[in-house]
Amino acid sequence: MASDPLELPGRGCPRRLHCRVLQSPLAGVSDRIFRALVRRWSEQALLFTEMVNATSLELGHGRAKVEELGQETGPIAVQLFDHRPMAMAEAARRAEAAGAYWIDINMGCPVKKIAKKGGGSGLIRDPQLATRIIKAVTAAVQVPVTVKTRLGWCGSDADPLSWCLQLQDAGAQLLTLHGRTREQGFKGSADWGAIAAVKQALTIPVIANGDINSPDDARRCLEQTGADGVMVGRGSMGAPWLVGQIDASFKGQPIPPTPGPLERLLLAREQLLALVEARGDHGLLIARKHMGWTCTGFPGAPQLRQQLMRAPTPEAAVELLNAAAASVATAAAAC
Ligand SMILES: Cc1cc2nc3c(=O)[nH]c(=O)nc-3n(C[C@H](O)[C@H](O)[C@H](O)COP(=O)(O)O)c2cc1C
Repeated sequence: MASDPLELPGRGCPRRLHCRVLQSPLAGVSDRIFRALVRRWSEQALLFTEMVNATSLELGHGRAKVEELGQETGPIAVQLFDHRPMAMAEAARRAEAAGAYWIDINMGCPVKKIAKKGGGSGLIRDPQLATRIIKAVTAAVQVPVTVKTRLGWCGSDADPLSWCLQLQDAGAQLLTLHGRTREQGFKGSADWGAIAAVKQALTIPVIANGDINSPDDARRCLEQTGADGVMVGRGSMGAPWLVGQIDASFKGQPIPPTPGPLERLLLAREQLLALVEARGDHGLLIARKHMGWTCTGFPGAPQLRQQLMRAPTPEAAVELLNAAAASVATAAAAC
C-alpha cells in the first residue's frame, strides 16, 4: 500500500502522489531554499509552501511565496489561511495560476492572532465558516483542495470524527490530521489512535501527522492509524533528508544514509549562502535557526552553534563553518 500512488480527482484536474510521505508546511522554515534541499533527497514527495495569508496576498504582500513556485521542480502545494471565503478563493486562483499542485487550507494554526480572527485553528470553532471557505475555494480552482487540521479546539470539547466528517462533506479531497488539539499546541504526544478512528470513518484519504521523526516512526504510524500517508514537520528541521529516507523505506528501497558532520556543515554553508543571496543580510537571521539545527553531532558543535548565533555578518558565519569543516575533515583523516 505505502508504495501505490494516491490519486485526488480535483475538478477535472486530477493529481497523483507517488510518495506517501509529505513534507509539512512550516512557517519561517519551508521556504524555497529549504524545499530545494528536501527535494535533493526526494524527487516525488509533495512539499508545501509556508502558510500564506490570503488577505496579505490580496494586498500585494508575500506574493513571492506563491510566484516563486515556477522555479521549482516536483509537486508543491500552496497552503492558504484566512477567515474570508472570497479572499481565500481569490488567493487559491492566484496560487493555481502560479503552479500549485493543489491548494491546502490551514485549519490548525494555533497562533492567537490568527485563531482570534477566525482563521487557522479558529475555524474548528466555526464549522459553518470552515464549510463556506472549502466550498468557495473548491469552486475557484480545478486542482484538488485539501485541509490540514487538528483533533479539535480543546480536550474537553474535541470531537474529531464529526469535525472531520464536516470537512469531507464540504468538499475537502484529503485531510491531514495533526494528532493534537489546539489547546495542546505541541505538548504531549500526538494521539495516533484518534487519527485511526477518523481514518476509519472517512472515505477521503487521511494523512497522519505528529511526532514522526524517523522511518521507524513513519512505519509504526501507518500501522497504527491505517492512514494513507504521513506528514513530517519538526523532524525535518535541520534534516532535509528525512522525507527521502521515509520515502525509500516505504518503497522498500535502501534508505539514504544520514549525512555525517562534514556534509552537514557544508549543507549549512550552502543554505546560508543561498539565503543571503535571496534575502540579503536578513538571510543571515533566517539561516541562524537552520544552522543551529544542522550543526550537530560532532565535538565542538555546541560551541560552534553559539558562535554562529553571534556571527555579525554572513562572511563571519561562513568563516566559522569553513574552520569547523576543516577541523572535522582533519579529525576524520587522522582516524
Ligand atoms: C516552526 C513551525 C512552523 C509551522 N508552520 C506551519 C504552517 O505554516 N502551516 C501548518 O499547517 N502547520 C505548521 N506547523 C505545524 C506542522 O506542520 C505540524 O503539523 C506539526 O509540527 C506536527 O508535526 P511534527 O510532530 O512532525 O512536527 C508548524 C510547526 C512548526 C514547529
